[in-house]
Order: sequence, then C-alpha cells, then structure tokens
Amino acid sequence: MELNITKMNDKKTNGIFVTFEGIDGSGKSTQASSLLRKVQESGLNAVLFREPGGTRISEQIRQILLSTKHTEMSSITEVLLYSAARAQLTEEMVIPGLRDNDVVICDRYYDSTTAYQGYGRGIDMEFISALTKEAARKIEPDLTFLVDVDADLAEKRSSTIGRKDRIELENYEFKIRVIQGFRDLAEKFPDRIVILDGSKEVEQLTETAWKKIQTLLEKKGIIINLEANSENI
Ligand code: TMP
Repeated sequence: MELNITKMNDKKTNGIFVTFEGIDGSGKSTQASSLLRKVQESGLNAVLFREPGGTRISEQIRQILLSTKHTEMSSITEVLLYSAARAQLTEEMVIPGLRDNDVVICDRYYDSTTAYQGYGRGIDMEFISALTKEAARKIEPDLTFLVDVDADLAEKRSSTIGRKDRIELENYEFKIRVIQGFRDLAEKFPDRIVILDGSKEVEQLTETAWKKIQTLLEKKGIIINLEANSENI
C-alpha cells in the first residue's frame, strides 16, 4: 500500500518526542537513523539528535565523558556531566525542535542515566530522578523504544568496533546491570516504553516502530488520514 499522508492543516502542531534506548551494541543508533529516514520519506518533518551530544557544548562534554584517558572520573562527576550535556541539548535543540517539527528523535535520553549511572554505577535513584527532571526541563518522551539484546549479543557486536570508549570498556557485570535497568524501566512505564527485540532485522523493527509512531501522530492530530491524497501535504 502506498502511503499518503494528509497533515491536519497549515497550523503548526507540536511534534512528538521519540527516544531510543539500549545497551551499547544493541543496534539502537542504526534503528534511530532508519526510523528517521522512514518518517522523512512519509513527508513529515523530523530531526535526530544523539546523547550525549547534539550541540557544540554537549559534543565537547561528550568527549570528556567518553575519553579512555579519564579513568579517574568519579561517578558523581559522570552523572553531572551527562545531565549538563542533556540540559544544553534540551534548551538548544529539543524544545525548538518540537516546535518546528512533527517528530523529534533522540538517540538516548534520560533513561540511559537511570540505567547506566543508577543501575550501573549505583548512584541514588532519587538524586538521578530530580537531576534528570531539571536537565530535561521536565520534558518527557512521548514514546521510547528500548532496543533489547542480552549481554552476550551486545558484547559480540561491540567487539567488531575498533576502538571502545570509556563506558564501553566497562566489565560484563556492569552491562548486565544496565540491561536489567532498562528492562525494569520498561516494566515500570509500559505506556511509554516499547521493547524491540534487537536480535531481529533492522527493517522489521523499523516497521514496528513506524506503526507505533503513526498511532501516536494520529492521536495528536498530526496525521488524520493515511490514505488521503499526498497533494494535501
Ligand atoms: P552512545 O554510544 O550511544 O553514543 O552513548 C555514549 C555512551 O554514554 C554509552 O556508552 C552510554 C553512555 N551514557 C551514559 O552512561 N549515561 C547517559 O545518560 C547517556 C545519555 C549515555
């Protein structure tokens, strides 16, 4: 079936905020890019950002966070830097992005902090929750795709990457805790977080994600008729 999209009208509707989460090696970045293409091909305006990163300042913070030279970084410094990068991205890109686009996609957002710094490093969850709320300016993703793989598959995929960053060099037990963190979050927020089986083909997962997005867009009135004439776009 050829997909034709009618947008509601010329009036600017606030976009939806979609995030991708998962352990390193889950394939979530490939999924996020594939979904971006799909959304754009359908005639909608969409943008993709990565975390940490996406702005001049946040990309510099990313370098500090991921450098393998920074072995002495304390867990508190780490969580504060991830939050600082997020605060900048949210102000500079996510908030304006949601005003100007139908769909804003983020490759990681605050669930990563809960999983990596909360479950992985053992930082107090209440502290993380308060901090991430402020950093995200109380913005919440409308939909989150957790690309779920087990630690063995994640390790296997990561081993094909040439140089690993500081977090990727963490041990197997750390990764098990992070994966468990993501799974617990999915259980806690079943209306927001959709689990995608990361061992499946990219195209198959993109289709599943796209269907979920269409439903959400329809609910928000951004798409009202998928069968209508595309001249109306
Ligand atoms: P990326 O490889 O998906 O770009 O993410 C960079 C690394 O940062 C990855 O190992 C996960 C980690 N990370 C955290 O530990 N906490 C966070 O809040 C975020 C956003 C990422």
